[in-house]
Amino acid sequence: MRICSVVGARPQFVKAFPVSRRLRANHEEVLIHTGQHYDESLSGVFFEELDIPEPEYNLGVGSADHAPQTAEMMRLIDEVIEAESPDAVLVYGDTNSTLAAALVAAKREPILAHVEAGLRSGKWSMPEEVNRVLTDHCSDLLLTPGENAAENLRDGGIRGDVVVTGDVMYDAVLAVRDRVLDGDAPLPVPGLRPDAYALATVHRASNTDDPDRLAGILDGLTGVDIPVVLPLHPRTENALREHGLYDRAAAKVRLVDPVGYVEFLQLLANASKVATDSGGVQKEAFYLDTPCVTLRDETEWVETVEAGWNVLVGSDPDRISRALFDRSELPPKPELYGGGNAADLTVSAIETRLADAPDD
Ligand code: UD1
Ligand code: UDP
Repeated sequence: MRICSVVGARPQFVKAFPVSRRLRANHEEVLIHTGQHYDESLSGVFFEELDIPEPEYNLGVGSADHAPQTAEMMRLIDEVIEAESPDAVLVYGDTNSTLAAALVAAKREPILAHVEAGLRSGKWSMPEEVNRVLTDHCSDLLLTPGENAAENLRDGGIRGDVVVTGDVMYDAVLAVRDRVLDGDAPLPVPGLRPDAYALATVHRASNTDDPDRLAGILDGLTGVDIPVVLPLHPRTENALREHGLYDRAAAKVRLVDPVGYVEFLQLLANASKVATDSGGVQKEAFYLDTPCVTLRDETEWVETVEAGWNVLVGSDPDRISRALFDRSELPPKPELYGGGNAADLTVSAIETRLADAPDD
């Protein structure tokens, strides 16, 4: 079979890494990079570190507001799909790149397969929620990381086939785990001691675009007596400068540039806690045994909260500090999001879908 995979933003390079490897073993893959993320630290580093094949197409769309960015992606993806005539289009997660490819595929011949289908925050003001709901409705094959996500789809008037595969990000973590846990490798940020610092990431629009929330998060991160390292997403750096918060942030937390995937997981695995509004990092924290403090009021990854390894604290400084400070023993970890073979199950599900049924 011939598959066009569409990626564009940092977490999608990580998700595509195990699937692309598995796909290319037996099938033809055409990798399309929309160019939504283009900085070396948000894009190039993942391709180099993870040995992801050079994309056959880089559309170079870059940054813009939602509508012009999505529209330009659609225009260019459509040209590629017409030229390549794939059997299936494969999309990941919930970014504008995901939605653009989904809308294009829905109006052309190939089937659409969505990895990380069925996730819901229940918050329609979140751009990712719009992207994931619409993508799920366009999809012929919905590949979910767990039963909860599949249940969301069964209740939601979806027409495609739902298959629980587990989380491809778990496959990715397992593929680099030896490099991450290599005790001889120094931590990528100098001066840190294992288990004596907290890691933080912030980039969600609801946090960066609201100066009060961003200030609350900064105050919360510094209410602890250990260093806090914050690899700074460019959206957050821009927001800190725009809201006049940059110097306050730099005085309180250790701001560093975004780091590569293996380096980030090293920082995560060795941190005493992580505070984050990232989707991917909540799961990676769980896989690497680091308790997570989520800087949001809700999460799509509810299983990590139910398991006792993740706590939702929003942007309230006291709740953030208290959660970072808390050293209570955590419950034994259940297996969430599959067994680390999600890429295999993803490719098998596409094979079966293409063999079984013509597109409707
Ligand atoms: C996007 C996704 C979000 C995902 C995140 C992963 C959407 C709507 N949002 O958010 O779901 O969690 O990626 O990191 O698709 N910028 C750079 N260099 C780059 C890319 C972006 O400086 O290489 C700056 C630009 O100023 C840009 C801003 O970051 O305007 C935001 O980038 P964008 O891709 O629009 O959204 P993210 O916040 O990265
Ligand atoms: N990540 C990274 N370097 C960093 C911060 C994050 O490699 O400095 C990785 C992280 O390990 C995860 C992915 O980027 O695999 C998460 O991306 P992000 O938080 O930007 O997006 P989200 O998951 O929220 O969509």
